[in-house]
Amino acid sequence: TVELNPTLLPLEWLLGTWECDEPGEGSFPTIKPFRYTETLHFSHVGQPVINFMFNAFHAESKKPMHRECGFVRMQPGTNRVAFIIAQNSGLVEIEEGELTGQQLSLQSQQLARISFAKEPYVKQICRVFQLRPDGKLEQTVSMATDNQPLMQHLRITYRRSS
Ligand code: HEM
Repeated sequence: TVELNPTLLPLEWLLGTWECDEPGEGSFPTIKPFRYTETLHFSHVGQPVINFMFNAFHAESKKPMHRECGFVRMQPGTNRVAFIIAQNSGLVEIEEGELTGQQLSLQSQQLARISFAKEPYVKQICRVFQLRPDGKLEQTVSMATDNQPLMQHLRITYRRSS
């Protein structure tokens, strides 16, 4: 095993595999509320970069649904964190924000998409990861689209599985 790059020590708590402990809740004013399961993997190879994969599934049928993968970087000597993300929907994004204790609060800085992406288009994303005192990880995602203001889309909690 390779030693963690010291730049990333403030994010060491994120590394590993996380399984949702109960199905996450999805909602938005324009869609039917839904439930989903999700597994998160955060790993590193000694570079000052965390590699991640998020794989979401339909809670009942277990069919693969949403997927994201990318990289996390920290600006050395600061609490600034950047996520570089590609999504299976054809969306790519840069999110940046701050690490405060074990809470990571991110806002989209750049969004781009494939020419034939489904509408409505996402205009803004706000995401929070928080390691709770009980050891569970919580993620919430809010978004604004062409026709809806910023509103929560996802909420889910995970327990560490390795
Ligand atoms: C719908 C974006 C993550 C499941 C949508 C819509 C958008 C969107 C723009 C359409 C809303 C509308 O019609 O007004 C995103 C973004 C995500 C994300 C930006 C990540 C940052 C997820 C995840 C799941 C999910 C993890 C879990 C399975 C759904 C479902 C719908 C939906 C089931 C409604 C049906 C559909 O339009 O396909 N999402 N989503 N999304 N999303 Fe997400």
